[in-house]
Amino acid sequence: MQPVKAHTGDTHPLMALPGDLDPARLPRHLAVIMDGNGRWAQQRRLPRVRGHQQGVRALKRLLQLCGHWGIPALTTYAFSTENWQRPDEEVNFLMTLFEQVLKQELNELDEARVRLRFLGDLEALPSGLQEHIARATARTAHHNRVHLNVCTNYGGRHELVQVARRLAQDVRQGLLDPDDINEARFANLLLTAGDPDPDLLIRTSGEFRISNFLLWQLAYAEIHITDVLWPDFDQAALATALRDFQQRQRRYGAVQSPPAET
Ligand code: IPE
Ligand code: IPE
Ligand code: MG
Repeated sequence: MQPVKAHTGDTHPLMALPGDLDPARLPRHLAVIMDGNGRWAQQRRLPRVRGHQQGVRALKRLLQLCGHWGIPALTTYAFSTENWQRPDEEVNFLMTLFEQVLKQELNELDEARVRLRFLGDLEALPSGLQEHIARATARTAHHNRVHLNVCTNYGGRHELVQVARRLAQDVRQGLLDPDDINEARFANLLLTAGDPDPDLLIRTSGEFRISNFLLWQLAYAEIHITDVLWPDFDQAALATALRDFQQRQRRYGAVQSPPAET
């Protein structure tokens, strides 16, 4: 992936990577469970959906920071396979919001050279949203500055079952020997194929759980949980998470950290 260079308009000093962070040891793939929108709104006696609107601003801010600081892949959890259980008005609001944001932001995402993908079972989404997703995905497919994946109607278990089904079909058709199923072949069929596994997972709003997010891909991710509610997640909160990440010793089951990559 190309190194991220500041382009015109990037000169705002606040957009510079804080001096105590090592640019060579940033996550190559950041995963975020954007949680706490409802509580943010409730604290202000606003309807929950106002929290989702503010949450979009927080995502925009984070994406810009990834571009400026040099985090080349960002995967965010926007709507889980379990979130359909919420009241119809909230679900409908979210679907409309996703569509509006796509419409409004597509030009800017394209100019910022962001490759946008939506990961999940997209066929269950409203058809208008599906069309916008298809358009945005095609238009930004060649970009490489930041890979943004938005997990929408995404469930980790569902994703794994889909992979199992694909492999079983290949076996049935005589295209694949079960003995040839290995981790690499399996990972190649995941929705995130092509990007490295996330090395840092951030969850906002103080919840200590994964909620069916990227079950395979998070196997060795470092986890940073913050009490900050998603709409309040800002530059300072990201810097705190990255500082935490850079202090971790990643052992991958061994006794010492593997030698730094050269
Ligand atoms: C996360 O915020 C956004 C979605 C799940 C769509 P929540 O809506 O879960 O906010 P809380 O957890 O109720 O505060
Ligand atoms: C996880 O948040 C899903 C998203 C952020 C989209 P939830 O708010 O749905 O998770 P739980 O219900 O607290 O586990
Ligand atoms: Mg929540």
